[in-house]
Amino acid sequence: MAREGLVACLLAVFVVLVLVPHTQQLQSSQAWSLLRIKRFLNYPPILSSWNTTTDFCNADPTPFLTIVCYEESITQLHISGDESLAPLPRSFSIDSFFTTLTRLPNLKVLSLTSLGLWGPLPAKISRLSSLEIINMSSNYLYGSIPREVSSLGHLQTLLLDHNMISGQIPDALSELSLLAVLNLQNNTLTGTLPESFSNLESLRVLVLSSNSLSGNLPDLSGLSNLQVLNLENNYLGPHFPSLGRKVVSVMLRKNRFGGGLPADLSSYFLLERLDVSFNKFVGPFLPSLLSLPSIRYLSIAGNRFTGMLFQNMTCNDDLHFVDLSSNLLSGNLPMCLISDSKRKVVLYSSNCLEIKDYSQHPSSFCRTQALAVGILPPREKRAPGGKAVIVIGTVVGVVGSIFLVGLAMFFAIRRGSIKWLMNKPRRRIVEHASNGYPFKLLPDGRYISQTMKYGALGIPSYRSYSVEELEAATNNFEAASFMGQSSHGQMYRGRLQDGSLVAIRSLNFKQGQNSHNFNHHIELVSKLRHRHLVSALGHCFEYYLDDSSVSRLFLVFEYVMTGTLRSNISEGGQRLTWIQRISAAICVIKGIQFLHGGIMPGLFSNNLKITNIYLDPNLVAKISSYNLPVVEENMKAMVQAGSSSSGSNESGYRPKHLDKIDIYDFGVILLEIVSGRPIALTNEVNIMTEELQESIITDGAARRSIVDPFIRRQCCDESLKTVMDICLRCLSEEPTQRPSVEDVLWNLQFAVQVQESWRGDSQSSEDSPLSPFQPSRSLVAFD
Ligand SMILES: *[C@@H]1O[C@H](CO)[C@@H](O)[C@H](O)[C@H]1NC(C)=O
Ligand SMILES: *[C@@H]1O[C@H](CO)[C@@H](O)[C@H](O)[C@H]1NC(C)=O
Ligand SMILES: *[C@@H]1O[C@H](CO)[C@@H](O)[C@H](O)[C@H]1NC(C)=O
Ligand SMILES: *[C@@H]1O[C@H](CO)[C@@H](O)[C@H](O)[C@H]1NC(C)=O
Repeated sequence: MAREGLVACLLAVFVVLVLVPHTQQLQSSQAWSLLRIKRFLNYPPILSSWNTTTDFCNADPTPFLTIVCYEESITQLHISGDESLAPLPRSFSIDSFFTTLTRLPNLKVLSLTSLGLWGPLPAKISRLSSLEIINMSSNYLYGSIPREVSSLGHLQTLLLDHNMISGQIPDALSELSLLAVLNLQNNTLTGTLPESFSNLESLRVLVLSSNSLSGNLPDLSGLSNLQVLNLENNYLGPHFPSLGRKVVSVMLRKNRFGGGLPADLSSYFLLERLDVSFNKFVGPFLPSLLSLPSIRYLSIAGNRFTGMLFQNMTCNDDLHFVDLSSNLLSGNLPMCLISDSKRKVVLYSSNCLEIKDYSQHPSSFCRTQALAVGILPPREKRAPGGKAVIVIGTVVGVVGSIFLVGLAMFFAIRRGSIKWLMNKPRRRIVEHASNGYPFKLLPDGRYISQTMKYGALGIPSYRSYSVEELEAATNNFEAASFMGQSSHGQMYRGRLQDGSLVAIRSLNFKQGQNSHNFNHHIELVSKLRHRHLVSALGHCFEYYLDDSSVSRLFLVFEYVMTGTLRSNISEGGQRLTWIQRISAAICVIKGIQFLHGGIMPGLFSNNLKITNIYLDPNLVAKISSYNLPVVEENMKAMVQAGSSSSGSNESGYRPKHLDKIDIYDFGVILLEIVSGRPIALTNEVNIMTEELQESIITDGAARRSIVDPFIRRQCCDESLKTVMDICLRCLSEEPTQRPSVEDVLWNLQFAVQVQESWRGDSQSSEDSPLSPFQPSRSLVAFD
């Protein structure tokens, strides 16, 4: 009997080895494309290690070269050369180059920077229809931007800065409804910014500096997500752009803007950087700019701003750079700009201030200059001459009254906020889910269907919820719905109106966080939907009433009912069979694979624990707790630990071996799956690893002594050995010796195959319900 089993096992090994493709390998056509790319790029030194035997998907990422795979395809390709690289040789054809790139159809991130690429961007880039990020900075691309780019429906980031691109910015770009970052800095673009840009509602960063753009900008006041606008060094103007109130950085240096600054700038409460220097602005300087609640950098240099400054003016404490030089300002420098000059840079030369040094003009200079340019907007310009006195009178009056109005508003707001704080520190602005959050997630059916492809999810599509809905679901967050408290906030259980159960995580924030700061987190959370994750269903913001900043963020997740993996293995519950255990482990590793490579940016170091793996009624395992950046940042903010290593996830590059931390944690889970003993301490892991190490060398019965007695007789030797072996490799001290996700997956699938054929051939008595994977003879679980 045992002998027969062994033979069957060996036979199965043979069959599997012959038939099953090595899944951790990249599709060979894609590997071939990479080698062609190397040839196109003229064999640059960074690619010198690539050859026909390279394991592209598992190479260690560097800042210059990173490849990320998901399943058998490349999803991210980053190659970055040297800033000083000359254009590629004459024989280079960008058209053929892109033909090769289109053989990598699942690319989400294409980053080819400083590689000397030259030629016009080919229209066939639109065939890479999964692209979310294009970074082709610092090459020699010329010609115009093809309008076909607009058919890249998932595109979120387009960086073509530091090239030689010319022509107009195509109108069609505004069809990119998810476009959040557009950087075309330092090219030779001409013409105006298309009117249709006022529809790019997802736009967060718009950088068009150092081009030859001209004319007025379209109305950007509807772009409620726009935070960074950099238009420096163009010929834009004369009207100051119309912007949403929530911009953070506005850089208009060296353009042709004229007229006065709009008075409502004083209500841009998130504005941190304002640079309007070297334009043709005239009219009164708005002293309230110095005390904007967020302002840190202010430059108005090289214009003809007029008005009196007073010593008693107030400034924001965080203001660290102020350039008022080369204007027509008079009066005294405000005290708040003079004190603690160490931390602040304050420039004010070439005005008419009452300062005893040689940097200032006599006050008569400013007066005559002000008259010469005409202080009132050009349309109302009066003939210079006898009416000088009246004009000056008007000017002083206007400056004074604007200042007073500003001051009055400031105190009114102050008082208001103090009252709010005393009465009720937190209240919300009622926001209805249907029209609340401007972020464009919900209408994007294309994204949802893309996500669906990764695993048929029987869950509703991602959406935003209203606070009322969540209150109704949890009976006003009553105690009975409370599931737990962690350092990051609270967890509640709720039942939505449609009867479905959800888990609601609540994160608390200090005042001052604008909901737009969360855009990229929410964007990421909305992608966390996979068969093997406890998936995100939506989110909800609650606001402080006095400044509309975020007080709480609720993240709504699936609620999985059938207990944790541990409770089904080592604690009471229903005891999983050997096959069910490997199947659960396969689910977990697939979940990890998705977290690392299936979303952008990947989530690493997820602190995986067996108690955070849940099983649904079909015994499909789901990872419930992963490394949500919003949680992590929130925690950091609360602990106030100024770690300098933040943001590593954002850059698109992983620090070395980051993925191997999850592999180790997975090894610990596997150890518990095999041994059936709950593991709580690192020490126990070490002891059991040693035991495992010893038992694997011995054979037969001795090996099984470490195995959970419940499954000891169910598993075939080869299957058990394969799992033990991969478990030990996962637990290697040295991260580089731990296997890749694909390697683990392949081995586990192999263990299922071997076990199945052994069981099928030797004993057909066992009748365990084999979900989630009904292993057939063919490719088990290659879904
Ligand atoms: C491929 O490169 C690796 C090291 O980068 C080297 O060890 C191997 O021999 C090379 N294989 C071939 C076929 O050139
Ligand atoms: C684009 O590439 C440049 C040059 O390699 C790099 O500095 C920049 O951070 C990249 N941007 C993004 C968003 O990846
Ligand atoms: C623009 O690019 C050119 C060539 O790459 C470079 O010489 C120049 O310094 C860049 N200008 C700016 C403003 O970055
Ligand atoms: C600031 O000082 C000026 C004159 O020095 C005075 O007219 C003005 O009322 C003062 N403003 C405040 C708010 O104290």
